[in-house]
Order: sequence, then structure tokens, then C-alpha cells
Amino acid sequence: MRLLDIQPAERVLELGCGPGVAVAALADRAALVVGVDHSEVVIRQARHRNRSAIRAGRVRLVCASVENLSLSDGPFDAALAVNTLGMWPDPVARLRELARLLRPGGRVALVSQPRMPGVVSASVVEELTGVLSEAGFTQLRTEILDLEPPAVCVLGLTA
Ligand SMILES: C[S@@+](CC[C@H](N)C(=O)[O-])C[C@H]1O[C@@H](n2cnc3c(N)ncnc32)[C@H](O)[C@@H]1O
Repeated sequence: MRLLDIQPAERVLELGCGPGVAVAALADRAALVVGVDHSEVVIRQARHRNRSAIRAGRVRLVCASVENLSLSDGPFDAALAVNTLGMWPDPVARLRELARLLRPGGRVALVSQPRMPGVVSASVVEELTGVLSEAGFTQLRTEILDLEPPAVCVLGLTA
């Protein structure tokens, strides 16, 4: 979230938002946060966690698959996907659809913190930069957060 540098007037989309922890933090910085996840269970948890921001109209949570996105709140200024891309069917196609939901110059951050033994950051960087560039994102930048295990963040811009 720090790397996305969200500004107060911005609209942010989080894909695979899980129980809405990042949504809550983003809602403190943005004008609107839309969180999407295909699990009804986690969307219920996310709605509970973000109930006052939902009431205030600053958060909207949508139970949907990333392969069936139909959102009316865009265009978004920034998008975030944490530890979820590896579960999506055809991630490059999903990222191309995401690019259409972002404004020109919109930012995306893909984050992966693999916990399987033997998965090294370099291969994760290669995977995330590969799918982002294939989907047409430009000016890719990688940051590795010094967590245990390390979290790989790759940022890019829409054309
Ligand atoms: C490991 S969790 C990460 C949740 C959250 N981003 C976080 O970091 O706490 C992965 C999330 O992606 C969601 N997910 C996986 N595939 C999805 C898909 N095709 N469409 C929407 N959500 C999906 C799962 O339901 C789950 O909540």
C-alpha cells in the first residue's frame, strides 16, 4: 500500500481481497475502495471489518470471480492484488481486463509472499514481471519487503 502511494481523492480496487484487512487500511487513505473476492465467507468477514466505511460510502465489497468482473465504480487510479494471482485462471487475461478498469497511467501492485520451501524471490519476481509485461503494463518496478518470508512487490502502470 505504501508503494502505491494512494492519494485522498483516488479510487482503488483490490482483487482477491480476502477478509478485507488491506481494504480497511486503504480506506483510510482513498476516496473509495472496492474489494472483490469470490468467497462469500471472506466477503462477509470483510463487510463486518469495514462496516463503518461501507456505511460512509467509502468501501464497496463485491462477491465475484476475477474472471467475471463487472464493476461500475471505475475508472480506478490504482489496484492491488496480494497473494492471489497464482489462484486465478489465465492471469494475463485477468490483468488485461484489470488494465481496462484503470485510468491511463493507473498503478497496479502485485504482491506475493510464497511460503513454500524452495521458492526463491527471484523466480517470483520473474513470474510477476512476466505476467504484467505480457498484459501490457509498463515501467515495472520491483521491491522486496524484508519480511519473513520476503514479500515480492511488482508495480506497473497502464499505458
Ligand atoms: C491467500 S488469500 C489472500 C487474501 C488477501 N489478499 C490477503 O493478502 O490477506 C487469496 C484470496 O484470493 C481469493 N481468490 C482466489 N481466486 C480468486 C478468483 N478467481 N476470483 C476472486 N477471488 C479469488 C480467495 O478467495 C482468497 O480470499
